[in-house]
Amino acid sequence: MASQSAPEESLKDALGRPLKDLRISVTDRCNFRCSYCMPLEKYEWIDRREILSFEEITRLAKLFVQLGVEDVRLTGGEPILRHGLEQLVVQLARLDGLKDLCLTTNASLLGQKAHALAQAGLKRINVSLDTINKEKFQQMTRRDDLADVLGGIFGAMRYGIKPVKLNSVIQRGVNDDDILELVEFSRQNGFWIRFIEYMDVGNSNNWVSDTMVSKKEILEKINERYPLQEIGRNDESAPAVNYSFLDGIGKVGVIASVTEPFCSGCTRGRLTADGKLVTCLFSDQGHDLKKLIRQGASDQDIIGAIRLAWSTRKDRYSEERLEALKSGEYRPDSRKKMEMISLGG
Ligand code: GTP
Ligand code: 5AD
Ligand code: SF4
Ligand code: SF4
Repeated sequence: MASQSAPEESLKDALGRPLKDLRISVTDRCNFRCSYCMPLEKYEWIDRREILSFEEITRLAKLFVQLGVEDVRLTGGEPILRHGLEQLVVQLARLDGLKDLCLTTNASLLGQKAHALAQAGLKRINVSLDTINKEKFQQMTRRDDLADVLGGIFGAMRYGIKPVKLNSVIQRGVNDDDILELVEFSRQNGFWIRFIEYMDVGNSNNWVSDTMVSKKEILEKINERYPLQEIGRNDESAPAVNYSFLDGIGKVGVIASVTEPFCSGCTRGRLTADGKLVTCLFSDQGHDLKKLIRQGASDQDIIGAIRLAWSTRKDRYSEERLEALKSGEYRPDSRKKMEMISLGG
């Protein structure tokens, strides 16, 4: 990942935001069934023939890097379900100009793969973990894999993947009473925990604003027991606001997409497993790049399509949601969205 010259011509969207991060979903399959993400009845799985090959993903990633992308994150569904994922990591890690290459995973298969992924060039990992209570974990994911997940995150640490961040989506009445236990677990074991406000993703997660626990509430709960000091965002486009503990042990982040939206700094594009460029987590459709590739388009044609999609982008869904929530007009199902499972968060 050596640094290289700046992109030929800077690409900005209609609101002046550059394209700097690419979240690549490598599969829409997942071995968990978290109710907030998984549309159990209505979802049609992507046909295997439509899934981009590693060569197709690498070709697209290279073009995105030419357009200014610096950070690539692999997501799913569950990305480690994609056979031979480490081979893709090797190919992406070689891209000149890429500064960060990471993975968001549920970690259930990480124990078997952490070593290979670290050797392949993966820099860091984020792990979805909403509770460390065995029964609750089973209830939330509909799988009994907590021991494997814990084995996976400790394994990743052993193989030098750093930091290992834990993502906990907090839902009122479900796991809001797990916050302190998750904080303690993270502080004791050297993980960086981030709490995430529950979002209205997809079309069937039954979101109502009351089930969302706000950043303010989350911080108050932690601060009462373990006083905090704000550090801020890693960079101006990062979703998480970070805090350190006054006793010097560990860090915690909060991702407040509902109460403090960060659309104005949003530099993230998403590539679905079937090759669609999606310009917002709450979009209803993507721009089909796979079609272009499989029709034999040149790199310049594909770059032209990406440029067009990004330069006309006006997305600011979370800001609009906050405005509508404040005026009492928000209806989560008023707009059709793509499903979280196909976008990888
Ligand atoms: P870091 O680079 O380690 O900070 O990762 P990240 O927070 O960008 O990515 P991760 O996959 O860990 O996502 C954490 C949470 O942030 C998930 O719930 C994502 O859905 C959410 N998230 C990430 N990017 C966006 C975004 O652009 N908009 C919104 N609304 N949520 C986002
Ligand atoms: N609200 C907030 N975060 C969510 N994620 C999945 N569904 C939701 C939701 N409804 C998170 C997962 C994972 C990341 C990619 O997105 O927990 O860490
Ligand atoms: Fe799978 Fe992550 Fe969705 Fe849970 S939130 S079903 S682990 S993709
Ligand atoms: Fe970006 Fe859309 Fe998230 Fe806003 S809601 S931060 S525009 S992905």
